[in-house]
Amino acid sequence: MYKQIGILTGGGDAPGLNAVIRAVVRTAIGEFGMKCIGIEDSFEGILGETHTMKLTRSTVSGILPRGGTILGTRNKGSFVKMVDGKPQIAQLPIGEALANLDILGIEALIAIGGEGTLAIAEQFHNRGFPVIGVPKTIDNDLAATELTFGFMTAIDVATEALDRLHTTAASHDRVMILEVMGRHTGWIALHAGLAGSADIILIPEIPFSFDSVIRAVQERENSGSRFTNIVVAEGAMEVGKGEMYSDTHELRLGGMGDHVRKVVETMTGKESRCTVLGHLQRGGSPNAFDRMLGTNFGACAVRALYNGDTGKMVALQAGTIITVPLSEACANIKTVPGDGQLVRTARDIGISFAAPKEFAH
Ligand code: F6P
Repeated sequence: MYKQIGILTGGGDAPGLNAVIRAVVRTAIGEFGMKCIGIEDSFEGILGETHTMKLTRSTVSGILPRGGTILGTRNKGSFVKMVDGKPQIAQLPIGEALANLDILGIEALIAIGGEGTLAIAEQFHNRGFPVIGVPKTIDNDLAATELTFGFMTAIDVATEALDRLHTTAASHDRVMILEVMGRHTGWIALHAGLAGSADIILIPEIPFSFDSVIRAVQERENSGSRFTNIVVAEGAMEVGKGEMYSDTHELRLGGMGDHVRKVVETMTGKESRCTVLGHLQRGGSPNAFDRMLGTNFGACAVRALYNGDTGKMVALQAGTIITVPLSEACANIKTVPGDGQLVRTARDIGISFAAPKEFAH
């Protein structure tokens, strides 16, 4: 069995990363007698002048409730190059990384990350290096796993924001817009919108029309509710139009919330304000669920390595942690089904998605 394993975190951070790291270290050392090396700043830590840290039970003591990642992370780094505005995984540094892993005495790797990190991890597997992936994204949009850690904490943060916006919206009779994360999918917007009693939810999966947004605001007005709360996923799109970017080179989404605010204010004459929740959704302490899921993923990842079940990613399906091949792990994105039960429930209780046809009947 492996004498020493490496662990790294890649991509954007998510509450619960430290829970995974702690569980990996405790399981590897306590249950299987392996040593653990933390690779710093994603795969960058095993390139050039390597930077790593020895992980023991005492170095991971007290990190369970801490946000971020004690190992540091990078969004792109040396393995990813932008080609025609799209991220491409470069092949070149794998050989250098493998040589450095050999020098460091790291015999297997646990890579915690999203699509990009797991695609890089798969390349290590393809070169015969034992690797296990742990899925991470607050957007909860990986089809292979029912849930990713960080998502529940992000919903808690967005729900609290909505609660707070509610009271100020009602006091001023305003339209309040909350822009939340969700690059390709509206899971955070949908869940927080339901939990935080939004009136309108705009998500990428259901393109909206401003006519419908305005109709929904006016219907509330006519029924005596003089304020409206709107949740907008950052990737939401108007019918026939694309996503909105604050930086087209880096493909950084942004601006949809404020765009909605301007149009709504102009078309209804009602004072409107936009709050962009941004990285508040990613920072800070994980909630109890995310600590538990991260811990479960971490321990199961080490067990999978021990069992030789490599080239896989741990995933939650039907309440149980299973493993799926890394090649399938990121193949499909999990979008909000427009005719799914949560959308239907939202509509049943009077929440509008401002789809063009919503007010046709
Ligand atoms: O993938 C998770 C995510 O939270 C997206 O919803 C968002 O667009 C992105 O990260 C922002 O990441 P960063 O600011 O780190 O580039």
